[in-house]
Amino acid sequence: MKSYNIALLPGDGTGPEVLREGVKVLHAVGSRYGITFNCEEYDFGGERYLRTGETLPESAIAELKRHDAIYLGAIGHPDVKPGVMEVGILLKLRFALDQYINLRPVKLYPNVDTPLKDKGPEHIDFVVIRENSSGIYSGMGGATMVGTEREIATQLMVYSRPVVERCIRYAYEYTRKRNKKNLLTLVHKNNVLTYVGDLWVRTHKEVGDRDFTDIRQDYNHVDACTMWMVKSPEFYDVIVTANLFGDIITDLGAMIQGGMGIAAGGNINPEGVSMFEPIGGSAPKYTGKNIINPLAAICAGGMMLETLGEDAAAKAIDKAVFKALASGKIKSMAAGKMGMGTTETGDLIASLV
Ligand code: IPM
Ligand code: MN
Repeated sequence: MKSYNIALLPGDGTGPEVLREGVKVLHAVGSRYGITFNCEEYDFGGERYLRTGETLPESAIAELKRHDAIYLGAIGHPDVKPGVMEVGILLKLRFALDQYINLRPVKLYPNVDTPLKDKGPEHIDFVVIRENSSGIYSGMGGATMVGTEREIATQLMVYSRPVVERCIRYAYEYTRKRNKKNLLTLVHKNNVLTYVGDLWVRTHKEVGDRDFTDIRQDYNHVDACTMWMVKSPEFYDVIVTANLFGDIITDLGAMIQGGMGIAAGGNINPEGVSMFEPIGGSAPKYTGKNIINPLAAICAGGMMLETLGEDAAAKAIDKAVFKALASGKIKSMAAGKMGMGTTETGDLIASLV
């Protein structure tokens, strides 16, 4: 019997509700594939912050490092100033655990509405690999003469060769393992970001030419990428991109795959502890109503299994979601419009794994 220690971070708003369904599905798939999950829950989030003034306690990082993976509900509380929880928990964990890959599949399941006219599941199935540890998220920069007419502020896009290279290598390996179109598209903006863009472009080419001659290389400027994602999403297989560009294009990606209710992501440290989450927020107004869509959290659980090396169990979750949606029983991806409740949706997937 294989066994994994999972740290649960339900967080705020609807986070606990969707995570509960994700855990339900994990246990269901575990019992079929001989895997047990020892889950330990942590109360990091807005409520705790309002009570204690602390986002993450001192001991949190060391504790979380003792787990095999982290499963997150949502971070963000309406009574806490925007940015505090995001920086103090989400970004802090990504950086402290060096989760340098943000993996975001963009996949349209059957019967799920996409706003793209004439596009179906055969057109929308690609993966965005977002660099998750550096770039404009590094927090470097500063401001001077703040509040005066001549105020100056900078925010630096910081990339070193090793940080770019480890991300690009992961992306090539991932493209090879996925074995779909064997096409890795680098998305950047090297017509304007001549220094950092050039570093990414050269690294993409050098690593590909040297070690991944079986993978085709392509390049899009990020603005053009948003255009192609709408016009010809079938063109993409795997996209690798810098932190901020990945943040932006994956919101677009979530919309074309049917919305935040179905969009999952993983913050991955291939050599360490990774963290999986539904990428929609805490949706406070839907809290406690049993109407939020847990599919994104459930799919994030599947990504967790894949990263842990449990490919068969991971595929079983994906297939169960596929089956449930193909059956037409789930009417919509939107909260309150699914035609069933949060817990019933979890039960349905658990019954199908
Ligand atoms: C995301 C979010 C975060 C980000 C915020 C909440 C800090 O938008 O996970 O995409 O910008 O990375
Ligand atoms: Mn984002």
